[in-house]
Amino acid sequence: MKETIIKAEKLTKAFKMPAEEIVAVDAVDIQIDEGDFVSLMGPSGSGKTTLLDVIGCLDFLTSGRLLVFGRDVSSARESELVARRRGRIGFVFQEFLLLPELTALENVELPMIFARMKPDPEKARQLLEKVGLGGRADHLPKELSGGERQRVAVARSLATSPKLLLADEPTGNLDTRNSQEIFSLFRKLNEEDGLTIVVTTHDRELGSQAARTVRLKDGKIA
Ligand SMILES: Nc1ncnc2c1ncn2[C@@H]1O[C@H](COP(=O)(O)OP(=O)(O)O)[C@@H](O)[C@H]1O
Ligand SMILES: [Mg+2]
Repeated sequence: MKETIIKAEKLTKAFKMPAEEIVAVDAVDIQIDEGDFVSLMGPSGSGKTTLLDVIGCLDFLTSGRLLVFGRDVSSARESELVARRRGRIGFVFQEFLLLPELTALENVELPMIFARMKPDPEKARQLLEKVGLGGRADHLPKELSGGERQRVAVARSLATSPKLLLADEPTGNLDTRNSQEIFSLFRKLNEEDGLTIVVTTHDRELGSQAARTVRLKDGKIA
């Protein structure tokens, strides 16, 4: 039986602003199973980032029910959210977010340190090879192209061998060719390693390459 990685029922996230309340995610039901490759699509402002942040235990929900790896985190405190995501969920962001003074290899080792694991340079090197950057281990981010930087970020997201990879607009800063390379890499990781992946994009052509597409509009599943 496939493990259920994420199960959300009527998941709602609202932001209280001085003048109004913004319901960014509005009663969303979604289930992600082990081995899924899902693209979360929708126009800017439709709630993709907010939904990804909440299911990734980076932010609190306002109401509804959320199970992450079988544990109910609906009313979890910050420390419980951290414990739930650390080591189990890998993240990739639009802005790459590599540390500029560290080499590609050192950037990949960072999550191991944050997860209080022993840094494993051999594993970091293998991950760089997996993303096609075996020859770039000692480069600083500024010595890499945008596409290469994002591939380092993907390698980094896998450093703790997470079961779930969440990527928020990972191709937002890349040209068509590099965007396609990132999606091909996701497909490989999903098909060959069984990695569960949820990726947000507003690019229809890229998003349609995932095994399943979920469309958001005004915080609701369309
Ligand atoms: N931290 C925040 N505070 C207030 N409003 C927010 C915050 N984050 C997102 N929003 C609002 O929530 C809605 C959904 O945003 P977001 O999840 O970033 O959409 P998307 O990623 O699809 O562009 C938007 O209206 C946005 O302005
Ligand atoms: Mg977004």
